[in-house]
Amino acid sequence: MKKYIFPILYSFLVCFSGESIFNSPAQAYPVYAQQGYENPREKTGRIVCANCHLAQKPVDIEVPQSVLPNSVFEALVEIPYDKEVKQVLGNGKKGGLNVGAVLILPEGFEIAPPDRIPEEMKTKINNLYFQPYSESQKNIIIVGPVPGKKYSEMTFPILSPDPSKTKEVSYLTYPIYLGGNRGRGQIYPNGKKSNNTVYNASVSGKISDIRTLGKEGFEVVIETSEQNVTESIPAGPELIVSIGQIVKADQPLTNNPNVGGFGQAETEIVLQSPLRVQGLLLFFFFILIAQVFLVLKKKQFEKVQLAEMNF
Ligand SMILES: *[C@@H]1O[C@H](CO)[C@@H](O)[C@H](O)[C@H]1NC(C)=O
Ligand SMILES: *[C@@H]1O[C@H](CO)[C@@H](O)[C@H](O)[C@H]1NC(C)=O
Ligand SMILES: *[C@@H]1O[C@H](CO)[C@@H](O)[C@H](O)[C@H]1NC(C)=O
Repeated sequence: MKKYIFPILYSFLVCFSGESIFNSPAQAYPVYAQQGYENPREKTGRIVCANCHLAQKPVDIEVPQSVLPNSVFEALVEIPYDKEVKQVLGNGKKGGLNVGAVLILPEGFEIAPPDRIPEEMKTKINNLYFQPYSESQKNIIIVGPVPGKKYSEMTFPILSPDPSKTKEVSYLTYPIYLGGNRGRGQIYPNGKKSNNTVYNASVSGKISDIRTLGKEGFEVVIETSEQNVTESIPAGPELIVSIGQIVKADQPLTNNPNVGGFGQAETEIVLQSPLRVQGLLLFFFFILIAQVFLVLKKKQFEKVQLAEMNF
């Protein structure tokens, strides 16, 4: 239980950002996750990470078509991106991208306990650390931020529920939702912009001054007929305007340094009743018997025909 307290506290501060406030190894962090959201998936189907990760990039998920109750299977999550690209880090420097994911499983499904995970699957998991979204939502799993170079493909070991033991679960087809991210966010949960986004002019006017503040970034002064507006731009994005230039409101003053993005995908899984599988096998068995019987009958009939012809 204690294990979850730190992640939840931490996740309150981080929105999938791939950024740490404490300098511990990446694996120790939770993904992100807004404690502000009881459920990371809104009614519209939108996963809340998209609030901070504004760019869209693809993700993919593969699961078996059907699983038996109380069995361990793997969900393969892919968060593809060009491993050569670098992003602006929180300190304004450039570095590799982290990845993170949230997997929303049907109720009753959860991460398989270590003793149920086969060795072969453990190798694929490669020490990836999984966390339930909350104490009461073990079916929602979060991962990361972890280095994208190592974990752009993630294997989730999942244990299916047993409807004979868990009343809320039935043998049905269920949806599975994935949210996957690479790279830092553009906005912090508190609404503040990160270093990893584009900065636009807030007013129309003429750029009268640009002050370079080194580690603190830039100040761009825009002169309008009524006032002088100072735009503060943190270190990270690169200025694309110069003194004397006329700019319009909402016109970008910097490039967009973001190379990452967030994506959603969904799939389905059937929780298959073993009785149904047995029933099906039995059914096939009877069909087989029936066919064999028909063939024998036909042979017998042919023999009779032959006998009649000889007659
Ligand atoms: C942006 O970079 C500056 C300077 O490197 C750093 O001090 C600051 O914390 C960063 N800000 C954000 C919002 O990431
Ligand atoms: C803006 O700053 C310039 C140069 O400092 C100054 O001449 C001008 O009067 C200022 N404009 C306004 C509207 O305050
Ligand atoms: C800044 O400019 C870009 C490019 O024109 C635009 O896509 C973006 O919406 C603008 N951002 C804001 C906050 O106005």
